[in-house]
Amino acid sequence: MEYQTERLILRPWKHSDREPFAAMNADPDVMRYFPSTRTREESDNMVTAADHILAQKGWGLWAVEEKSSGAFMGFVGLNIPGYELPFSPVIEIGWRLDKPFWGKGYAPEAARKALEIGFNQHAMDEIVAFTALENLQSQRVMEKIGMCRCEEFDHPSIKKGQPLCRHVLYRVTKNQMR
Ligand SMILES: CC(C)(COP(=O)(O)OP(=O)(O)OC[C@H]1O[C@@H](n2cnc3c(N)ncnc32)[C@H](O)[C@@H]1OP(=O)(O)O)[C@@H](O)C(=O)NCCC(=O)NCCS
Repeated sequence: MEYQTERLILRPWKHSDREPFAAMNADPDVMRYFPSTRTREESDNMVTAADHILAQKGWGLWAVEEKSSGAFMGFVGLNIPGYELPFSPVIEIGWRLDKPFWGKGYAPEAARKALEIGFNQHAMDEIVAFTALENLQSQRVMEKIGMCRCEEFDHPSIKKGQPLCRHVLYRVTKNQMR
């Protein structure tokens, strides 16, 4: 199932997305707020898993395409974190776009569609987002779409004391989104 916004398409993954996705996952700028970049194999495994979940549930991490150019830009979507968090269980919204597409308001545009799908088609009560305290770009997206900053916490998979360990949690319900 494919969804459209004014400038974007949220869709299942294509084989041709794998190469540009691996390239962005290997880019230290794109992965600046993650513990490491990803290998081609890790990147491909993520695509396989994301596509499987999308087919199974009808929601998940969609590949995002720029309508005007047809270019694959990255992903935006909904996900159940694969590890225990202080506020589990939750459904999170997440995004990762390649550098040429930053700063155009694309992540908030796609994220609003993902929230709408979660709330209206899948009756989700609340959606969260979290990111490293240092990742102000991502927090800006959370604020733009109406999410409320709640609490800070230490990410369970990052060693305490490391700069990326401290994270911030945002939450949103259907009537708060904008
Ligand atoms: C976070 C991310 C998805 C934001 O997407 P986006 O489509 O650029 O979002 P916006 O255009 O709304 O910009 C959000 C903020 O990013 C910052 N920003 C924009 N362009 C930027 C650039 N080229 N370089 C650095 N920061 C930039 C600005 O602060 C902007 O806020 P503003 O619009 O109030 O000025 C994107 O930066 C990204 O994919 N980053 C790498 C992966 C990542 O960190 N994902 C989140 C993990 S939780």
